[in-house]
Amino acid sequence: MAFKVTPWEVEGDIDYKKLVREFGVNLIDNNILNKTKKITGQTHFMLDRKIFFAHRDLNFILNEYQKGNKFYLYTGRGPSEHLHLGHLMPMKFTKYLQDKFNVKCYIQLTDDEKFLFKENLSLEDTKKMSYENALDIIALGFNPKNTKIIINTEYAKTLYNQAIKVANKITFSTAKAVFGFKNSTNIGQIFYTSMQAVPAFLESVKQGKNIPCLIPHGIDQDPHFRVARDVLPKLGYLKPASIQGKLMPGLLENGKMSASIPKSAIFTNDSPKEVKEKIQNAYSGGKETLKEHREKGGNPDIDIPFQYLKFFFEPDNKKLKKIEDEYRNGKLLTGELKQITIEKINNFLEKHRKERENAKKKIDKFLLKD
Ligand code: TRP
Repeated sequence: MAFKVTPWEVEGDIDYKKLVREFGVNLIDNNILNKTKKITGQTHFMLDRKIFFAHRDLNFILNEYQKGNKFYLYTGRGPSEHLHLGHLMPMKFTKYLQDKFNVKCYIQLTDDEKFLFKENLSLEDTKKMSYENALDIIALGFNPKNTKIIINTEYAKTLYNQAIKVANKITFSTAKAVFGFKNSTNIGQIFYTSMQAVPAFLESVKQGKNIPCLIPHGIDQDPHFRVARDVLPKLGYLKPASIQGKLMPGLLENGKMSASIPKSAIFTNDSPKEVKEKIQNAYSGGKETLKEHREKGGNPDIDIPFQYLKFFFEPDNKKLKKIEDEYRNGKLLTGELKQITIEKINNFLEKHRKERENAKKKIDKFLLKD
């Protein structure tokens, strides 16, 4: 089946193997997993389960770390009206890496990007959304001492001074080839990738020496960082390393969670009742009738509620395996699996919303402004 993955469009049933070949990233293998385990004492379930499944230069990052040369983390979000679970997943993984390696982290919220790429949003809208989304991110437990949030237009002076140096090394024909721009594309879009490149070397600028950077991100963002890896050495900086995640599947049969398709996603402000309804209507790998399900079993691989447990809500590998096995052999019914998922999501969201309220008091400590 056809699929499409670009930084601005993700459609269809994604063939990750094919993407790995096309993008030229490396798969996370046992070597890398073992090395990570050696350093941190354990590997995160999102790594074990290959939800974060590919990387560039992760070996370099780990080797340097073992020599005492710490890296810093960089990730980001294009702001949207509300964040959904697919947005929180890589943030939560980033928080885990930060805790385990005890490193600094930059989080970029790209109000400029959203304004340039979405026809119906004003810059005021996207700026406001960035502040709102920052609360959801802070709610995951980040600490302002080692985490800084950048809203692009609020840190424009610092960013622009570096972005022009990046832009100076990217030709229109490269941007066209990588991102598919046309003559009708507005020129802000063409420049934008230089803004996304800046936090990948910002710490080196600040410290006046090269600091390795590791970027956890959804695989759709890789084209930006391919360009950044090409350009940064020309400016005297290291190539940023990266670790690529799969995109959290949407509630509907195909495609990812998408903020612009409300029915495809569970948002952080969905009520317990909405979550229940959404999961009950989610695409299922269960059989049509009870009898058939008991006899033949369900298919967790295509079952969306199961996938949510796997991607996010059941961190315990043993418990997940039990659910998977029982679903496959028909012992666990679709309704029961959905009930487990509904409870897990609602418990998470209840706590999340409290933390989000608390975040309002802390947000100023996180934001970089100039
Ligand atoms: N372009 C990204 C998006 O639309 C936002 C982003 C900026 C980002 N910097 C990043 C994502 C670094 C991952 C890592 O979501």
